[in-house]
Amino acid sequence: MLSSRLSPLASTALRSASSSKASLASASRSAQHLLNVLPNSTVQRSNFATAKQKKKKQSQTIANAPPSVRPAAVENPNAHYKKLPIPDDPNATVGRIVAVTSGKGGVGKTTSAASFAMGIASKKPDKTVCVIDFDIGLRNLDIHLGAERRVVFDFINVINNDCTVSQALIKDKRFENLSMLAASQTKDKDSLTVEGVEHVLASLAESFDYVILDSPAGIESGARHAMYFADDAIVVTNPELSSCRDADKMIGFISARSRRAEMDKTAVTQTLLITRYDPERADKNESLSISDIQDLLGLDLVGVIPESKAILTCTNLGTPVITSSSHTDDPASGAYSDMVDRFLGEEKEWRFTTAEPASFFKRIFG
Ligand SMILES: Nc1ncnc2c1ncn2[C@@H]1O[C@H](COP(=O)(O)OP(=O)(O)OP(=O)(O)O)[C@@H](O)[C@H]1O
Ligand SMILES: [Mg+2]
Repeated sequence: MLSSRLSPLASTALRSASSSKASLASASRSAQHLLNVLPNSTVQRSNFATAKQKKKKQSQTIANAPPSVRPAAVENPNAHYKKLPIPDDPNATVGRIVAVTSGKGGVGKTTSAASFAMGIASKKPDKTVCVIDFDIGLRNLDIHLGAERRVVFDFINVINNDCTVSQALIKDKRFENLSMLAASQTKDKDSLTVEGVEHVLASLAESFDYVILDSPAGIESGARHAMYFADDAIVVTNPELSSCRDADKMIGFISARSRRAEMDKTAVTQTLLITRYDPERADKNESLSISDIQDLLGLDLVGVIPESKAILTCTNLGTPVITSSSHTDDPASGAYSDMVDRFLGEEKEWRFTTAEPASFFKRIFG
């Protein structure tokens, strides 16, 4: 393969080196020498140079990191390999892994994961919460939590042992019991290995009471790993048929292919979160109603989040809608708060699920 990329002169040198029974190493050394001196070897030289530059740039990035976050010397990644215990096993003292997932993309998983994580952290100050962005290649959660400028290391850096878990965690400035682990922006989705994910989750579940996974859509590796290790799954859907059908596939996938299913343990607790719900449109049969969705998916409801204009503003401000003080009277904020309470075991009345009675003028003039 090397010889096909060499100039004729370099190929001759390589052949003659081989035929004179020089070792393969010395043959490639002479070819390399020729590559360096011949004018038509610029392509190969620039390839070598780019690889070298890339490596140098990578080590500079790590060297430029502040001392507090500079990684320790790289060790064998499997040297301290940890298995993730199931929290309900006797003597297991680990937190719960909660996956926020969906079949279809863009239904509100990241918006919900940010508000859910912050809601638990604010309502349970004695508990610790960590939220992880599993959407490899498309980092978003850091923006929702207002931490995009603080990301130094990410999930893949931890898996690759470029840094420790605690070096990669970003502590929230509003709730000190809330931390975040950012997704990597690498295009290589296969960098999320099952062993790597288990190792990181095992470390986090040792120190956090809730480890919340913001899953990507579909069943690519990030989504599969998130649902595989989940103890609880919050299945997010919009009130539309395509979104429900994809959610249904995900529900089946979680029931059959999670780690709990494989190990014959109690099933993953799956609950349903409907987002972007507009009761008026449901009344007019323009979208599915809550009961339609429940009939289709057969899961208990943990929350119904109304369609809300405040969500966009909150995302841009890096303030999850659940705690945004400027949007306290927005229904989405109250609906996320109720959803967190229900997840924590409280009974809550349903709000924002029925259309407001039409005003006098609306009834008269339409
Ligand atoms: N209740 C809501 N009301 C109005 N807009 C919403 C609501 N929830 C989410 N959105 C909007 O929907 C879009 C998608 O949201 P989000 O990024 O949270 O979805 P996602 O499921 O994480 O997407 P992906 O599958 O790409 O990860 C965003 O523009 C967000 O502002
Ligand atoms: Mg998302």
